[in-house]
Amino acid sequence: MAKTITLPGLIDPHVHLRDPGQTHKEDFFTGTSASLAGGYTTVMDMPNNAEPIISLERLEAKIAGAKSKAVSDIGFHFGTLGDNFEEFPKVIDKVMGLKIYMNVTTGNFKIDADRLIEIYKAWPGSKPILLHAEDDVSDIVFKTLAAVPKQTHICHVSSEAELTFVMKAKEKGLPITCGVTPHHLFLTNKDADRLGAYGHMKPYLKTAKDVQFLWDHLDAIDVIESDHAPHTRAEKDSAEPPFGVPGIETCLPLMLTAEQEGKLNRQQLIDRLHANPARIFNVTVDDTTVVTVDMSEYELVNEKLLTKAGWTPFAGQRVVGKVTNVTLHGAEAFKDGQVIVQPGSGTLLP
Ligand code: NCD
Ligand code: ZN
Ligand code: ZN
Repeated sequence: MAKTITLPGLIDPHVHLRDPGQTHKEDFFTGTSASLAGGYTTVMDMPNNAEPIISLERLEAKIAGAKSKAVSDIGFHFGTLGDNFEEFPKVIDKVMGLKIYMNVTTGNFKIDADRLIEIYKAWPGSKPILLHAEDDVSDIVFKTLAAVPKQTHICHVSSEAELTFVMKAKEKGLPITCGVTPHHLFLTNKDADRLGAYGHMKPYLKTAKDVQFLWDHLDAIDVIESDHAPHTRAEKDSAEPPFGVPGIETCLPLMLTAEQEGKLNRQQLIDRLHANPARIFNVTVDDTTVVTVDMSEYELVNEKLLTKAGWTPFAGQRVVGKVTNVTLHGAEAFKDGQVIVQPGSGTLLP
């Protein structure tokens, strides 16, 4: 018998499940099936849909879709371009956080940086604000946070410069956390040359030196977030490939393999994939939500993935850690590598 381990249900605060609007890439059933296959029992979906989630009406339509299709627990982040403040109080009890895009990425949903402070002032209550904020906008983020110190999560930190900014903001006592993706931990700009469009995402892959800096400062990294961003092969093979790579099914095996290589220990892994995202996004995962992982070695292959995208930039890589079973709130949801529950059996958060 191969060795198995048990983990608490993992939490990913950063996925793009493309539903509604781009369900040829992913939908709530395939996306949350992939989540269970990756050991995630809770995911939080981003608002950069084809029609961005900037009103109560669009949010409610999205929630209704998830209610009938999701097989893992799921919550939603709200979106803004700085012109929908009247919607904030209407949605605050139905979302996990507010997502703001400060750089160009998939969805063309970038704010005018001058509006950041107004948006911060308008966001009610204490739920986190999540920023897509690359190196070039860190000054304005710092000034905004110093003026309006609301809980802020910097998404997909990718470089020495970006993580240094987060570390400095933490030292100053600002309420900031950050996430790093598996692709920024396990791939470099050299891989981008090899992968072509399949290694094309925002932020771009960085140098080996940047990657080493992230590993050397793991203590400053609160969350490992997949930024699961499925696009079809046809889209990736097109003249203008969209930014983003799928990642929710490969993150845990990559991290468990890194653990075996001595790059981090089990507690550091669980903190970043479970305990810290639970605390930051105020999620509770009960003791009856657990994941069983077979620790035999195997090869990541595109054909075995449950994401509709059907590919991973890590194809061909040998890893340990395959999720075999997931129990969600006491009931088996994923068994021997298969989803065994009906669409709609996941719980909606908050
Ligand atoms: C994401 C997507 O495809 O929605 N793409 C990406 O390259 N990361 C958007 C984002 O997270 O910036
Ligand atoms: Zn982003
Ligand atoms: Zn993203």
